[in-house]
Amino acid sequence: MRLNSAFPRWFRRRAEGEQLPHPGKPLAPLPVNFVQFSILFAALSVFSPFASVAQQENTVSKTAAGYAGSEECKTCHDDIYRSFEKSPHWKTLLDTRGGSAKQGCEACHGPGQEHIDGGGDKGKIFSFLTASPKQVNEHCLECHASGKDHANFSRSAHTENNLSCLSCHSSHHSGAEQFLLVKVQPQLCYTCHLKMKAQFNMPFHHRVEEGLMNCADCHNPHGGFLRKQLRSAAGRDTVCFTCHVDKQGPFVFEHPGGKVEGCQACHSPHGSPNPHLLKASNLNVFCLKCHTGSTFSSASGTPDFHNQAAQYQACTLCHEAIHGSNFDRHLLK
Ligand code: HEC
Ligand code: HEC
Ligand code: HEC
Ligand code: HEC
Ligand code: HEC
Ligand code: HEC
Ligand code: HEC
Ligand code: HEC
Ligand code: HEC
Ligand code: HEC
Repeated sequence: MRLNSAFPRWFRRRAEGEQLPHPGKPLAPLPVNFVQFSILFAALSVFSPFASVAQQENTVSKTAAGYAGSEECKTCHDDIYRSFEKSPHWKTLLDTRGGSAKQGCEACHGPGQEHIDGGGDKGKIFSFLTASPKQVNEHCLECHASGKDHANFSRSAHTENNLSCLSCHSSHHSGAEQFLLVKVQPQLCYTCHLKMKAQFNMPFHHRVEEGLMNCADCHNPHGGFLRKQLRSAAGRDTVCFTCHVDKQGPFVFEHPGGKVEGCQACHSPHGSPNPHLLKASNLNVFCLKCHTGSTFSSASGTPDFHNQAAQYQACTLCHEAIHGSNFDRHLLK
């Protein structure tokens, strides 16, 4: 088996705890978007009649509208402030371009002056603990909607089933070192998908339980265009090619068996009782599901000499290039 050459390096570095984007998934850092946007905005402002309006709005959001600044919150919420300082969100304090509305505590909780004036009046501040999943998502997506990872959150199976960002993330009480997750993977996913744990405990499995791979390597928990929230490799191809490049082709002689259903036509992606994660233990039975020679299957029937009582059972003994071949139309090499 030949894996993507970038894979082992990425694998090792991540195993050592380094925070890395998936090799097939370039991380779009938020600040870049901010920068691009503000350059564009600045350029527009110079020539546009809206320039003065924009400037006005900017000053307004910086001073008025009831923002107190994160330092104020610290006086009463010291413990929360300390967890905030250690989280990636402290960076919002450095970015002054969006004004107070995009900085620190109030970037998420909204203006807090009234809350303070009321001596900590709970009714005068946005609380994630009492908000609906929809409200939570809207608040977080104010900054995280860009980038291909989150762009489809609103149409994911998770959102449709009323999950919010806080089903998996916690701003102040996260239980994982990376990504502010409530728990580390795969335990996080198992809290709701316990059935999958059994699959990863099968004799042959992708090594998720061992911590060498994550659920999120194959799935985008935030949703995407593909079914089952699967990620795609470059070119919107099946996610499996991210690591198993040698199976991608194009081959002179393709095996169309996998072209429609994908690799799952023959493999159980999580785990299987059979070697090579195959869906069936008797390979011949399995291949002959399609290769019946009937009019109902587009697959060709086997030649007459393929006596199933004898050596013709172990199909891939001869049809070695089962994933496609550049040399032989019968996939013999
Ligand atoms: C038509 C059935 C079929 C489809 C579709 C299929 N495979 Fe396989 N695959 C097999 C069989 C059979 C074996 C075992 C080969 C053997 O016995 O030597 C195998 C073995 C493998 C192996 C381990 C051995 C090796 O050659 O590296 C990997 C990895 C693999 N497949 C990945 C994939 C990926 C990725 C896809 C999707 C692009 C895919 N397979 C699609 C039938 C299939
Ligand atoms: C004068 C002290 C004080 C200051 C300053 C203060 N708070 Fe509070 N805050 C409180 C008290 C008291 C509560 C209510 C705690 C309770 O009843 O559990 C509270 C509750 C909250 C809650 C609601 C928690 C929940 O249970 O829903 C949030 C969110 C919050 N504060 C955010 C902020 C932010 C953001 C700031 C800064 C803009 C801030 N607070 C500044 C005293 C303060
Ligand atoms: C990235 C958005 C975000 C930022 C920034 C943020 N919070 Fe929160 N806050 C939340 C969420 C989400 C919760 C719900 C609990 C959780 O996820 O940890 C929460 C909960 C709270 C609570 C309720 C008590 C608790 O322990 O859950 C208080 C009080 C609070 N935040 C205060 C603050 C203060 C003070 C700051 C600034 C130091 C701040 N928050 C910054 C999102 C944020
Ligand atoms: C079903 C669980 C789940 C939900 C719901 C969820 N996330 Fe995530 N999120 C994850 C996991 C798991 C990762 C780590 C991804 C990885 O390992 O590559 C992550 C990573 C992230 C990252 C950092 C990496 C990146 O891709 O940019 C951000 C930002 C993020 N999530 C924001 C959000 C926001 C905002 C919401 C709500 C709109 C949300 N998430 C909802 C599970 C979830
Ligand atoms: C004011 C804008 C803003 C809001 C609102 C916001 N975030 Fe973020 N978030 C950021 C920035 C900036 C980063 C740091 C990005 C970086 O490091 O490149 C970040 C990083 C993250 C990460 C990645 C953590 C990591 O370890 O890489 C997660 C997860 C995340 N946010 C979740 C959330 C959730 C959940 C909410 C809602 C409760 C939320 N964010 C609200 C701006 C925001
Ligand atoms: C090697 C890639 C890979 C990994 C790693 C992976 N999955 Fe999957 N998963 C898939 C594929 C491919 C499918 C679609 C199978 C199909 O078409 O029936 C799928 C399907 C699913 C489904 C839908 C099942 C159904 O019956 O509809 C769930 C839920 C799921 N995975 C959860 C998880 C969880 C939880 C983890 C981590 C513990 C995980 N997956 C890890 C590739 C993966
Ligand atoms: C709070 C509960 C919860 C958590 C945590 C959770 N999920 Fe889900 N997930 C659901 C629900 C509910 C559905 C929709 C019903 C179903 O398909 O089981 C779902 C559906 C899915 C699907 C199937 C999508 C489809 O189109 O059928 C996949 C794949 C999936 N989740 C992966 C993950 C992964 C990976 C994680 C961890 C990063 C995770 N989930 C964490 C509740 C959760
Ligand atoms: C993040 C990288 C990665 C992705 C994505 C991935 N795999 Fe794998 N796969 C591996 C590694 C590494 C191994 C072998 C080592 C091991 O035992 O974990 C493996 C092993 C396999 C094997 C068994 C090989 C054997 O000889 O027994 C098959 C079959 C396979 N993968 C198919 C798939 C399919 C199908 C998908 C897409 C649903 C997929 N893989 C996605 C990394 C990946
Ligand atoms: C999901 C259905 C499906 C499965 C399962 C399947 N195949 Fe195929 N296979 C096809 C189709 C469709 C073709 C193309 C037939 C054609 O073009 O006439 C094909 C072509 C072939 C060919 C090329 C011969 C030719 O007629 O051009 C061989 C050899 C072959 N398959 C062997 C196997 C073996 C061995 C297995 C089991 C490991 C297998 N197939 C599993 C659908 C399948
Ligand atoms: C001992 C070696 C061997 C084994 C085992 C074997 N085959 Fe073949 N198969 C061949 C050879 C050689 C050909 C090419 C015949 C020719 O040149 O027309 C072939 C041709 C085929 C074709 C193409 C038929 C056509 O119309 O072009 C299919 C489909 C096929 N085999 C499927 C299978 C399946 C399914 C199995 C397992 C049940 C299997 N083979 C086991 C050697 C083998």
